[in-house]
Amino acid sequence: MKRYRDIAGDGGSNIAGQVEAQQARLRSRLAAVKRIVAVVSGKGGVGKSSLTASLAACFASDGRRVGVLDADLNGPTMATMLGVRGRQLVVAGDGVEPPVSALGVKVMSMDLLLPSDAAPLEWDAATQAEAHTWRGTMEANALREFLADTRWGELDLLLLDLPPGTDRLATVAGLVPGLAGTVVVTIPSDVAHLVVRKSLTVAAQAKAPVLGLVENMSGLFPGPDAAALARDAGVPLLGRVPFDPELAAAADRGEAFVTLRPDAPAARALRAIAAALRAALGDA
Ligand SMILES: Nc1ncnc2c1ncn2[C@@H]1O[C@H](COP(=O)(O)OP(=O)(O)OP(=O)(O)O)[C@@H](O)[C@H]1O
Ligand SMILES: [Mg+2]
Repeated sequence: MKRYRDIAGDGGSNIAGQVEAQQARLRSRLAAVKRIVAVVSGKGGVGKSSLTASLAACFASDGRRVGVLDADLNGPTMATMLGVRGRQLVVAGDGVEPPVSALGVKVMSMDLLLPSDAAPLEWDAATQAEAHTWRGTMEANALREFLADTRWGELDLLLLDLPPGTDRLATVAGLVPGLAGTVVVTIPSDVAHLVVRKSLTVAAQAKAPVLGLVENMSGLFPGPDAAALARDAGVPLLGRVPFDPELAAAADRGEAFVTLRPDAPAARALRAIAAALRAALGDA
């Protein structure tokens, strides 16, 4: 695969062909994955990554084969939350072997590729203005490579943890053949609902159905009702996850809160949401 630098330098040679070849590899790789679900929200910091990690843990502890792709290239957190940070990536045969969490979740993240904690992801371009113009294309290429070059093997469920901002969903929906749907995350605050309402509109326009809305950090603020937001958008409310500082602490340690504190109200809520998602997916 040519890198952006090569493309910008000489105008490119058969770039479309190379992208198509990569896309074909992606299709054959993902043919062994039964369901792909993207976790999204227009709003940052509402708990997309935490929910992704917890859903992965719920499905894995129920015996499902689960993978997580951290599609947040600039703010990757999944390697930390799933406890695989710092693991060496092994290149084997036709791709990279993803690290596996304690519960058996396969994880791929930009975090596993960057050399140090402080190193941001930088796109290589002649000028920063050029890098900015090409950012969307380069991000799409990076995600395509991540999906195609990771040895996911056979999976019942692949969860995609998206960065904040609903525009990213269109990119991912364009890349992933047969995206089963999206889970939209909100918190009980007016500003979050303002943004998430737009996310629901964009998600509804994507090629994949909105499987449901999740209210996270319930009880933290006396905010608007997520049930009304879901009803207005015509999507199911999959559940509400209470705010629990222990959940955040477990995520920081890379431990699965749902198995660590199975009786906590937040863990019960997360398991119920996983069950509702499974039902929405037709018992994945
Ligand atoms: N229900 C909860 N109770 C307590 N803390 C939570 C809960 N959900 C998430 N958190 C914490 O809130 C912070 C933000 O969560 P998280 O990183 O999952 O959000 P995000 O939507 O993925 O953010 P970003 O938009 O930056 O990707 C984290 O420290 C996380 O551990
Ligand atoms: Mg996140």
